[in-house]
Order: sequence, then C-alpha cells, then structure tokens
Amino acid sequence: MAPQLLHTPRLRLRPPRPHDAEAIFPRYAADAEVTRYLSWPRHRTLNDTRAFLEWSAAAWQRDGVGPYLIYREDDLIGSTGLQCMAGERALTGYVLARDAWGQGYATEVLRGMMELAQTCGLRELEAICHARHRASQRVLEKCGFQPVRDSNQPFPNLIPAMQPAHIFILCIARP
Ligand SMILES: CC(C)(COP(=O)(O)OP(=O)(O)OC[C@H]1O[C@@H](n2cnc3c(N)ncnc32)[C@H](O)[C@@H]1OP(=O)(O)O)[C@@H](O)C(=O)NCCC(=O)NCCS
Repeated sequence: MAPQLLHTPRLRLRPPRPHDAEAIFPRYAADAEVTRYLSWPRHRTLNDTRAFLEWSAAAWQRDGVGPYLIYREDDLIGSTGLQCMAGERALTGYVLARDAWGQGYATEVLRGMMELAQTCGLRELEAICHARHRASQRVLEKCGFQPVRDSNQPFPNLIPAMQPAHIFILCIARP
C-alpha cells in the first residue's frame, strides 16, 4: 500500500475521501480551461465528481495506490497519482487549479510521483500529453521523461475527441 500522506517541499498529498466532491468540483474539475487537455471529461455536476471518488477508492482497494489530492497548506490546488498498468508500469498525470499555475508545482508533484513509483517498486512511468500542450511537455522534460512515440489519443473536452499526442516514458531507477 502506498503512503496515505506524501510531502513535497511545498505541498502535501493525500488520497481523495468520500466527502471531497464539494471541494474538487468547483476548484478544478468543472473548469473548462483547466480540463481542456485532460483525458477525462470536464465534470458537469457533483455526481461526476462523486463517480471519480468511487473510481479512486476502487483503484486504491485494487492496486494499493491511486489518485492523490494536492494541498498548499489547507488549500486544495489539484490532483495527481499513479494508475497501475501491466508489467510494473503506471500512468501518471497532474492537474492544477488555474491560480496554482506557473509556480513550479506540477514539476514538484511529478517528482513526488517519481519517488513514489520507486518506493512502490515500479519499473516505468508513462504520461500522455497533447501535442500542442507545451507547458505540460516542458514539465515532463524537466523531470527526465522521454517522448517515445506519437499517436492519436482521446481528449474528451476537445472536438474532435481524437487528437495528436506524445507518449512520454520514464524508466525508474532501482533504489
Ligand atoms: C500544465 C500544468 C500542469 C503546468 O503546471 P505548472 O505548475 O504551471 O508547471 P511548472 O511551473 O512546474 O512548469 C511549467 C513549465 O512550462 C513552461 N511553460 C508554460 N507555458 C508554456 C508554453 N506555452 N510554452 C512553452 N513552455 C511553457 C514554464 O515556463 C515552465 O518551464 P520552466 O520551469 O523551464 O520555465 C498546469 O498548467 C495545469 O494543471 N494545466 C491544466 C491541466 C493539464 O493540462 N494537465 C496536464 C495534462 S497532460
């Protein structure tokens, strides 16, 4: 089981809990600009956020790891996590509320996920990034991820939903 509390230099991360929907929905999950390049549909109602919380709880139960909410002191600023895949691999990603952009938080959070992946004994991390999303590509590059291939991927908040993306990989060093 991955830790229930993680610290990065400026942030605190914990798994979502059932009562978090009212905070997550308005803070970032319903924001059209924040969710533009995400792989999940923007939340239209609180029930969408509650469905995410159920999916998150199931992932934690099944895999011993899953999503984390990101806090700057007591302020919820976004989410990240590890989604287990076959072969000691996991998918990662990050989403921040708009007022938290441009302060190095995504890079800090991704480094936290890299440490967690090492702790969990994972071999490889993968991230999918829209081909035009330069800020996110820069975060991945700063953390040492390598672009390994391009493919069309679903981006449900864009039209058309299938869009060009880069697939990034990071090999995790054994501790
Ligand atoms: C993308 C996102 C995660 C970036 O978070 P952040 O905390 O602002 O990122 P950081 O500050 O750690 O790093 C961003 C880097 O991209 C650079 N950058 C920002 N906008 C850029 C642009 N349009 N073109 C090129 N580089 C850009 C920044 O200068 C910085 O690089 P630097 O440290 O070399 O100066 C944030 O904007 C976000 O949550 N967006 C909505 C959700 C999302 O798209 N998630 C990613 C899905 S793949």
